[in-house]
Amino acid sequence: MALDNIRLEVMQTVEKSVDGFIDKYLIPVEEIWQPTDLLPNLQNENYMDEIVQIREEAQELGYDFWVVLVADMVTEEALPTYESWLMDMEGVEQHGASHGKQNGWARWIRQWTGEENRHGDTLNKYLYLSGRVDMKEIEKTTQYLINDGFDIGTGRDPYKNFVYTSFQELATNISHKRVGQLAKKKGNKMLAKMCSVIAGDEMRHHLAYREFVKVIFDYDPSEMMLAFQDMMKKKIVMPAQFIRESGDDIATAFENFSNAAQRLGVYTTYDYIDILKKLNDYWEIDKFTSLTDDAEKARDYLMALPDRMTRIAGRISIPQDQHQFKWVAANGRL
Ligand SMILES: [Fe+2]
Ligand SMILES: [Fe+2]
Repeated sequence: MALDNIRLEVMQTVEKSVDGFIDKYLIPVEEIWQPTDLLPNLQNENYMDEIVQIREEAQELGYDFWVVLVADMVTEEALPTYESWLMDMEGVEQHGASHGKQNGWARWIRQWTGEENRHGDTLNKYLYLSGRVDMKEIEKTTQYLINDGFDIGTGRDPYKNFVYTSFQELATNISHKRVGQLAKKKGNKMLAKMCSVIAGDEMRHHLAYREFVKVIFDYDPSEMMLAFQDMMKKKIVMPAQFIRESGDDIATAFENFSNAAQRLGVYTTYDYIDILKKLNDYWEIDKFTSLTDDAEKARDYLMALPDRMTRIAGRISIPQDQHQFKWVAANGRL
């Protein structure tokens, strides 16, 4: 479906500012951390001590913890899906231009992808060294997730996609940060550091995407408001919503993983509501004065949504039974 010309015009206008966004929110390759900065250096003579330490510290972490860490890692590893999805947005032009003349949005997406790619890489290496999980089952899950693809309900609409990424980057910031805090509590310093450093990247990305939306609000407030409403009505679900274990149908794994994350307090319904409130505040949706009638209604809906969701959240209980994932060996169940 082709979008109206105004969206394309807005994207082309904002594109002129993308280099500034890259400078402000992304970090050049030579300056940013790499996974090996956070992992044992296997070229060191005492590498074995470090690996033994990882494995010992890993014994302190419980079953739900591993499930959540694995699912977080797999989610990061499905990055090819996200990059290709974003590259398909209206206003992104990936063909033809040589470096330096690339379409600004394509350049943003590429460099964002380059940063994101380090997350799965880091966690994958850690999990492999921990000895606590079944890597082959995890690898199959990753391959399934990439094979299956996804549909986050945004279509090619940049407005909706930027609502999704604004939301999702903050959700991942919260969940990586909390996993890191749990690891730290159990004396697992290396993993704690990894998670908090990754969480820092997610925060920068969140700040960028919410800025894109803010700028779009300046140019096209009513349409931006409607896009925001549409995404919140659909609910923003993690890109791993279609995650599955080998031999399984789509969907059940995500629910079980999500329950584990809620039990641990790593990412809960209240976090979801909190993110929504923060976005409402930052975009100052209460302040727009010349919205269309539909957009006015959308604004009312969005303003009322956090309270409405809080009332419902109080009535939902989280299942306590742990699903037995193939990713984490039964004897590792704590
Ligand atoms: Fe990430
Ligand atoms: Fe991210």
